[in-house]
Amino acid sequence: MSRTVIVTGGSRGLGLAITRALLEAGYAVATCSRHPGDDLPPLLAAYPDRLFWQQADIGVAASSQAFIDGAVQRFGAPWALINNAGIAREGILATLPLVEVDDLIQTNLTGAIQVARAALRHMLSRPGGGRIINISSIIGQRGYTGLAAYAATKAGLDGLTRALAREVGRRRITVNSVAPGYLDTEMSGTLSGGQREQIVRRTPLGRLGTADDVVPAILFLLGDGAHFITGQTLTIDGGITC
Ligand SMILES: NC(=O)c1ccc[n+]([C@@H]2O[C@H](COP(=O)([O-])OP(=O)(O)OC[C@H]3O[C@@H](n4cnc5c(N)ncnc54)[C@H](OP(=O)(O)O)[C@@H]3O)[C@@H](O)[C@H]2O)c1
Repeated sequence: MSRTVIVTGGSRGLGLAITRALLEAGYAVATCSRHPGDDLPPLLAAYPDRLFWQQADIGVAASSQAFIDGAVQRFGAPWALINNAGIAREGILATLPLVEVDDLIQTNLTGAIQVARAALRHMLSRPGGGRIINISSIIGQRGYTGLAAYAATKAGLDGLTRALAREVGRRRITVNSVAPGYLDTEMSGTLSGGQREQIVRRTPLGRLGTADDVVPAILFLLGDGAHFITGQTLTIDGGITC
């Protein structure tokens, strides 16, 4: 029986790259997003037995609960959860509409907590431990003009990681954050040419990251060799924060 990993936001970007890599590595994957997108349907056709997708908005408690219920019904209690789904809203805080602040917190922080809470109820009943990985961001550690509310949600996720690692460690469930730097995905599409050039200039490895730069760390943290690593934030940013 394949181990099951729940990945939120698997329809594109980093979540899609993680989903694809997990399937190739032999895991079963349950993922969700608000829309199926263009790239997930062919993957669903290629892996009908090991890939499950359900439409869900993780910012809505009933919707994230229904997704976890659907995933458990399909594959049983999960081995791991990757809290990947997230949104970015850019704008200086003084003028950022409150509705956008609410959206950010509801999706990136409350959503991740809701999904973790629902998934943990099943993970705790499964013998043999498990893994939770929260996708935070270097923005939560260092900040960036125009991303204050986003940064707050990502710093919150790192706090969730540390506290939850203490809470579930005795059950051999590890909880870690992976904090990418600037990735070339749809989310970073709002960066101006000047901002991109500045990021590249300040990055020792001389480029923006890609989803494929992050995937190997996820595979490592899910694997048996990472069983004594918990409560940590692993930064993958080409050295921009070093
Ligand atoms: N891109 C970067 O530079 C960067 C850097 C550091 C960290 N990160 C973090 O990495 C994660 C993935 O980012 P990405 O660049 O891959 O973003 P992306 O390309 O915009 O993809 C985001 C994924 O999350 C889903 N999603 C968004 N809101 C959702 C909701 N309320 N309910 C369910 N699914 C939702 C999206 O699908 P739908 O829109 O269809 O719902 C999509 O599948 C995020 O947590 C992000 O903050 C990104």
